[in-house]
Amino acid sequence: MMERNGTPKHVAVIMDGNGRWAQKRLLPRSAGHRAGLKRMISLSEHAFSVGVKYVTLFALSAENLSRPQEELDTLFSLFRDYFSGNTEKLKGKGVRLRVLGDPALLPADIAEMIRVGERETSSGRNGTLAIAMGYGGRQDILSAVNEAVRRGKPLGAEEFSALLATAGMPEPDLLIRTGKEKRLSNFLLWQCAYTELYFSDKLFPAFGNADFDRALKEYASRERKFGRI
Ligand code: IPE
Ligand code: IPE
Ligand code: MG
Repeated sequence: MMERNGTPKHVAVIMDGNGRWAQKRLLPRSAGHRAGLKRMISLSEHAFSVGVKYVTLFALSAENLSRPQEELDTLFSLFRDYFSGNTEKLKGKGVRLRVLGDPALLPADIAEMIRVGERETSSGRNGTLAIAMGYGGRQDILSAVNEAVRRGKPLGAEEFSALLATAGMPEPDLLIRTGKEKRLSNFLLWQCAYTELYFSDKLFPAFGNADFDRALKEYASRERKFGRI
């Protein structure tokens, strides 16, 4: 296959399939989320090590907040573990943490951990790890539209992008969705206009670094045309 693209600068991942991974093993869904979080940590480290500069991970959609409270409690407790154990590590590696989504949808102590984590890592220049939690693409666009209306003058695409949760980040070059489903589920709707899409049948906890490398290889062979011939 001819190489057309190099390493993508920005890879976004919809980390789907934790629950099914656990169910297949006759384990509670919480075990799937725990395994998913472990995988998320090493996958993001791997992505930076192969030269990706921006890694955006969909951890919890705004719509996921309608799941049963018991499942949300598991997820929130995993997020707490994540932020308490990893902010320092990211800082040490010079990786900037950003959280996309509405912090008001999350428990107050997690919103505070996010605020501290973003502040503590804000000078990181080696890479950006963006975790979408309580995020919805439509909500993101709508809040930008409302801000634009407040400003009272028409905006261009670049000015509009700067009002989105991903302000200052390049658009994803590659979007990977694990877990068999082939849909965006309200992820980065505006930002993925020309993103290359890659779907894997593997459930997220089973999506290994080698699977990620396969996605990069396929990306390298794609021809991006952006509407041109
Ligand atoms: C993705 O896994 C993680 C979250 C949405 C929080 P799921 O929990 O959606 O797993 P499946 O799709 O039920 O297997
Ligand atoms: C998408 O997965 C959201 C995350 C992975 C965080 P879902 O499991 O929520 O998506 P649907 O409901 O199958 O579309
Ligand atoms: Mg799912």
